[in-house]
Amino acid sequence: MIRSYKNIMPTLGKEVLIDESAVIVGDIELATDVSIWPLVAARGDVNTIRIGARTNIQDGTVLHVTRKTPTHPDGNPLVIGEDVTVGHKCMLHGCTLGDRILVGMGAIIMDGAIVEDDVFIGAGTLVPPNKTLKSGYLYMGNPMKQARLLKDSEVSFLKQSALNYVKLKNDYLEQA
Ligand SMILES: CC(C)(COP(=O)(O)OP(=O)(O)OC[C@H]1O[C@@H](n2cnc3c(N)ncnc32)[C@H](O)[C@@H]1OP(=O)(O)O)[C@@H](O)C(=O)NCCC(=O)NCCS
Repeated sequence: MIRSYKNIMPTLGKEVLIDESAVIVGDIELATDVSIWPLVAARGDVNTIRIGARTNIQDGTVLHVTRKTPTHPDGNPLVIGEDVTVGHKCMLHGCTLGDRILVGMGAIIMDGAIVEDDVFIGAGTLVPPNKTLKSGYLYMGNPMKQARLLKDSEVSFLKQSALNYVKLKNDYLEQA
């Protein structure tokens, strides 16, 4: 289920887990300790997808990008930073995420949106195109609104959540 598009194969860092039901196509780079859980679909065809170390992409999430055009020469690649938790059944399309972010279950993040480091996105949130989510805040709702500053415990949890998933991923790799 790891496939090329136009002769470009996904590249995988060390100790990466990709569930055998996931589909990973084209120009995609996964850094060390990334985990891709059941039924994820990631298509790096008309642009690129980059995922940073220790990030987890949970079950049923869809990752895609927007093509380059004369009026929009870079299109919209998808960039996800380090220690990011992407919950179940999210849709991340042509957006840029920094480090230590939690994307709640079922959230949708649209083209050109930028999520700064240390952000918590509530379950079911819709992030419209080209919005910026500021570091240190909780966002939720459809369309998303800045809800409040994160508590210290929530900021610590962002990193911890990613580490929990690295551990879980290692258990799966050991039993394979
Ligand atoms: C947003 C969240 C962090 C809770 O934040 P909180 O500040 O503790 O919110 P509370 O539970 O005190 O609820 C406060 C209000 O927000 C509402 N609310 C809670 N979560 C919400 C969400 N995701 N979207 C919209 N509104 C939400 C509550 O209904 C409540 O509204 P009310 O005051 O009208 O009753 C949590 O609900 C959430 O969405 N977590 C994401 C979990 C997840 O998806 N993890 C990834 C899977 S591993």
